[in-house]
Amino acid sequence: MTQKRLLTRVFLSFTLFGCFYISNTLALAPADEIPTDAARISEGQAIFDSNCKTCHRVHDKLVGPALKEVYNVAPSIDWIVNFVHNSSKVIASGDPYAVALYDEYNKTQMTHFPSISRDQILSILGYIKQETEKGPAVAAVVSTGGGDANASGDAGVPAIYIDAILIGLIIVLVLILVVLVLITTILRKYLNQRDDLDDADREIVNPTFSFDLLVKSKPFIFIVTFLFVAIAFKVVINNLYAVGVQKNYAPKQPIAFSHKIHAGTYEIDCNYCHTGVNKSKNANIPSPNICMNCHGSIKTESPEIQKIYAAIENDKPIEWIRVHNLPDLAYFNHSQHVVVGGIECQTCHGPIEEMDVVKQASLLTMGWCIDCHRQTDVNTKDNGYYDNLVELHKEESKSALKVEDIGGLECSKCHY
Ligand code: HEC
Ligand code: HEC
Ligand code: HEC
Ligand code: HEC
Ligand code: HEC
Ligand code: HEC
Repeated sequence: MTQKRLLTRVFLSFTLFGCFYISNTLALAPADEIPTDAARISEGQAIFDSNCKTCHRVHDKLVGPALKEVYNVAPSIDWIVNFVHNSSKVIASGDPYAVALYDEYNKTQMTHFPSISRDQILSILGYIKQETEKGPAVAAVVSTGGGDANASGDAGVPAIYIDAILIGLIIVLVLILVVLVLITTILRKYLNQRDDLDDADREIVNPTFSFDLLVKSKPFIFIVTFLFVAIAFKVVINNLYAVGVQKNYAPKQPIAFSHKIHAGTYEIDCNYCHTGVNKSKNANIPSPNICMNCHGSIKTESPEIQKIYAAIENDKPIEWIRVHNLPDLAYFNHSQHVVVGGIECQTCHGPIEEMDVVKQASLLTMGWCIDCHRQTDVNTKDNGYYDNLVELHKEESKSALKVEDIGGLECSKCHY
């Protein structure tokens, strides 16, 4: 009996020691905490993309340091967690590593992220570790560029080529016609010289129908004149409608700011600068302070960037020239379209991330708004607000609920 008890005791203490040992080694080797499973890594990537990407890349220095191998470089995982939660606190505590880093980055403040949990930060590190091991994606950058070019090629033959092909076809047709006319004239001449034709044959060779007569006939002249006048009328009307329509308007801006660099190459989120776009009517043009988040330390010598400093020093706003402008009588709300409607910026503004200078891509006429409201389905997914409406609509009609059906064509919705 006592022997049995002794055995159990020994067994228990071994197990306890084992557990203690394992948990201890885990704590001693924090890098093992970094998750490697795909789900956590993709969670990490999503959090990284929406919170860190404006300032960090894995392989390149941007506003902040490149984060490759940061889990080995930084003092500890706990240090990283504290730094992400509140970098100022770590720096203020006099932590030498943090202070040196802060000075190296011209005292640029990293945003505080108290709401990102330790686990989520570990997921981010999982993503960073994966990217570190993959190595820099030089080829990937090149191939996205190529991919884009392909994508626009796939979208269809450019209009210029279609025009050229059409003109080519018309020329060929005219040539064929000329040749045919020549052949018939020669044939007719030849046949008329022969004596062995009877009257019926001559009738066929020289039909009473003649091109000359047709051209001189009244109905023909009437049709031609009518077509001519109609086309001229249409051109004039189109040009009249185009008065005040500024499609393709692309004014030169006071600072050579490029969306291609910022939103394209560096993939900065539109919302980072156009802060109102998800919550209000206006998208907002960023104030110079937002530029300074980065340009406090990036390209400080560039004359274009100096203009930002000058604006802040003189307390004068940068005088950006407005590109898109509806008349006062019309009401347009960004958050309603972007957040509730789920419409991409590019649907209305074109491929902004490819533009060095912003260009107005859409007509912005009443007809343009109405056309889209007739054609677009309301984004009712996960939106309880629309449940009843969807039910009602189903009883009345088989087609999808369009913006038109929720009052998108009512004058008062768009006009004050
Ligand atoms: C507004 C820009 C900005 C954002 C956003 C930002 N950082 Fe930073 N980060 C910095 C700067 C600048 C530094 C350099 C230290 C300093 O100046 O405070 C830094 C330093 C760090 C470091 C230390 C790097 C090293 O070499 O030890 C880590 C880790 C870090 N950031 C992680 C993150 C994570 C994770 C996120 C997203 C949740 C994030 N940062 C978002 C600007 C930013
Ligand atoms: C780094 C800051 C920044 C980012 C990121 C950015 N923009 Fe801009 N945007 C600006 C500035 C500054 C202007 C005013 C100067 C100009 O027109 O180029 C502007 C102008 C515009 C305009 C024209 C406004 C007008 O006058 O009518 C549109 C449309 C626009 N941005 C859309 C976008 C979209 C879409 C994205 C994301 C793909 C984006 N922007 C990302 C800073 C930014
Ligand atoms: C999130 C960081 C970030 C923000 C915010 C930002 N920029 Fe930039 N900007 C960059 C980077 C990165 C470059 C490319 C630097 C390079 O080419 O080495 C750049 C380049 C530029 C250049 C070209 C400079 C040159 O001489 O080549 C101009 C001009 C510029 N930015 C203006 C602005 C303005 C105006 C704003 C505010 C509306 C702004 N930037 C906001 C990161 C930013
Ligand atoms: C349904 C079409 C539509 C969508 C989607 C859309 N915009 Fe606009 N945007 C407009 C119109 C129309 C104007 C002109 C508004 C005015 O003059 O009142 C405009 C104006 C702007 C301006 C000039 C400043 C302002 O607030 O008037 C900016 C910047 C802008 N848009 C950015 C964006 C960004 C960024 C997105 C995506 C997140 C976006 N837009 C999505 C139609 C759209
Ligand atoms: C690319 C398509 C598209 C374009 C272009 C567009 N809209 Fe819309 N609009 C929508 C969608 C989708 C909704 C529905 C959003 C929702 O679910 O509330 C909407 C809703 C609206 C509403 C609210 C309607 C209601 O009954 O609640 C107004 C007002 C409106 N748009 C005004 C405009 C104006 C003004 C323009 C032109 C300057 C315009 N829209 C251009 C897609 C578009
Ligand atoms: C989806 C939004 C929308 C609806 C619905 C709408 N409008 Fe408009 N309307 C506009 C916009 C945007 C403009 C400005 C377009 C421009 O300047 O080309 C405009 C311009 C006008 C103008 C001025 C035209 C001009 O040349 O200045 C009149 C008048 C007008 N609308 C009447 C109406 C009436 C009447 C209705 C109802 C049958 C109506 N609108 C419904 C968006 C709308």
